[in-house]
Amino acid sequence: MKTVAIITSGGDAPGMNAAIRAITRSALAQNISVYGVRQGWQGLIDGQFSQLQARDVGGIIQIGGTFLGSARSKEFREESGRSRALHNLSRHGVDGLVVIGGNGSQTGSYMLSELGFPVVGVASTIDNDLCGTDITIGCDTAINVTIEAIDHLRTTGSSHHRAFLVETMGRNCGYLAMMAGLAGGAEVISTPEAEVSASEIAERLRAAYERGKTHAIVVIAEGVKDNSAQILAHFERDKRMVGFELRATTLGHVVRGAPPTAFDRILATRLGANALDALVQREFGVLVGYQNGQITRTPLADIAGRSKPINTSLLDLARVLAK
Ligand code: F6P
Repeated sequence: MKTVAIITSGGDAPGMNAAIRAITRSALAQNISVYGVRQGWQGLIDGQFSQLQARDVGGIIQIGGTFLGSARSKEFREESGRSRALHNLSRHGVDGLVVIGGNGSQTGSYMLSELGFPVVGVASTIDNDLCGTDITIGCDTAINVTIEAIDHLRTTGSSHHRAFLVETMGRNCGYLAMMAGLAGGAEVISTPEAEVSASEIAERLRAAYERGKTHAIVVIAEGVKDNSAQILAHFERDKRMVGFELRATTLGHVVRGAPPTAFDRILATRLGANALDALVQREFGVLVGYQNGQITRTPLADIAGRSKPINTSLLDLARVLAK
């Protein structure tokens, strides 16, 4: 292995920069040259390669996002896009590619690897919906941003005897909402895997109000059929109300842009360094993840196009503790 390239792809996730740094410096330590490719798969197609030296990845470990940029590329889904990407990789003499990203990105890794190119994936998405890893880079930070918002909303909620609907990200996966709800002591958590109807939410909020609570938090995953705006509209129409006055806050991309927590920096650093090792050891076509306290490599064929289910028993636990 003489030259490797790195891309960050899909939604950015806090810790991606730490992974880029770890891959780059691990490679340079073994006299392997490194290219950073801008804007994910699209940059591979357009030939946006630049060489990375140790100083280029200095001062970024603590910064969220990805200094390489990221994109969701439609062109890479076409065969012509993939062959242009392969052409550019070979033009730059790249022998191995590390793809830092989530579900869609690692499906892309699998496609390239099926064409015979040496690819290693690094599990990174705030959604934590990727198979082949217990936890993905960025998810811990996104949970922390969500619980910080919940904590703030509870404080003002308490002053005004209000309930708050807090909608967080996670696409079709409720992991982020579930964990933030559990850590934030939410009264109700609604996720795509276990959606709570507007009338059930009303009932639970009314019961919390009658138990003497001065505030209540409902955490909603963005992927549910009835999002927070719709639930709010439902309560506007149905004045049987919930005891509390109700307000809604949608966190959106705020949960994605924070500086990475220590957990995410360490996870990213370890997974990034291991991905470089995998290329050096010629173990290609794998996703580097973290399972049962160990760094693991899982064939991309086993994880591409799949979504990891959440442990819904934690929703039951949160409900019991919401008393
Ligand atoms: O996959 C990460 C994620 O932040 C999801 O939680 C969210 O649904 C999606 O990306 C948003 O995508 P975009 O940044 O393209 O709007």
